Amino acid sequence: MRISLGNGSRRRPDGSGAARPAGGGGRAAALTVTGLSAGYNDTPTIIDVDLHVGVGEIVTVLGPNGAGKSTLLKAVLGHLRPMSGTVRLGDRELGGLRSDQVCRLSVGYVPQVNDTFPRLTVLENIEMGGYTLPRSKVKARMAEVMDLYPQLGKLAARQGGHLSGGERKMVAIARALMINPTLLVLDEPTAGLAPKPADELLSKHIAALTTTGVSLLMVEQRAREAMSISHRAYVMAAGRVVLTGQASDLLERPDLGDVFLGRTEGENK
Ligand SMILES: Nc1ncnc2c1ncn2[C@@H]1O[C@H](COP(=O)(O)OP(=O)(O)O)[C@@H](O)[C@H]1O
Ligand SMILES: [Mg+2]
Repeated sequence: MRISLGNGSRRRPDGSGAARPAGGGGRAAALTVTGLSAGYNDTPTIIDVDLHVGVGEIVTVLGPNGAGKSTLLKAVLGHLRPMSGTVRLGDRELGGLRSDQVCRLSVGYVPQVNDTFPRLTVLENIEMGGYTLPRSKVKARMAEVMDLYPQLGKLAARQGGHLSGGERKMVAIARALMINPTLLVLDEPTAGLAPKPADELLSKHIAALTTTGVSLLMVEQRAREAMSISHRAYVMAAGRVVLTGQASDLLERPDLGDVFLGRTEGENK
């Protein structure tokens, strides 16, 4: 059973207190996933998933290991062909497009691993993100991306393999931003980071993306920290969405740990 949380207006993630319609209502949809099933070797791993991301929203997918979170992202990104259901980017039906075609439709992706080239410098890594752009646009776009993350300036000549985990993830995000994506997809950006850099990545560097207008679909394990910067969340368990709601409502639940683990009321703990 799917549980929905919250209908009223809520605080913004930045705590400014401005009223905001629930569920991204009133916003144009950046991404609409309807009845999506996908998996491997003809066996569906995710089943009948409905999800949407409004323009400028941060939407987080939580759930235990093996729940199908990365599989959902792969199906959205065109790495996996949907078995049924639809994925729409704005008004455009992606209809089983390949991942390179999805990328050209302005969808950025920061994978959980292998997110940077260890032998390339920070600048080269970021430049690589713009390989689909006209040459004449690359330098200007790099400057815009570096403006968002000025900390990268002093790391410009450092090789990817010599960065801290948090720095590396910032470079990976900067690389993905090169195409000026309308939708940015992040798979467990804080995986492998210590608590402090993880918190900084979420609360500063990822939260800062809202100023760019990009819409974010993020999978995260750090439920509480992720909720504090997200508008809404979906919890997946065993391939299905089992809970969805406003991030602020989820944050207020004392059982957020259980929610994150995909256990819902009435189930054995
Ligand atoms: N390439 C693959 N081939 C076959 N099964 C896979 C593959 N990738 C993931 N799976 C299986 O799909 C299920 C969901 O995995 P995944 O989407 O990676 O979960 P999550 O990201 O929530 O941890 C798991 O049972 C996993 O073993
Ligand atoms: Mg995963």
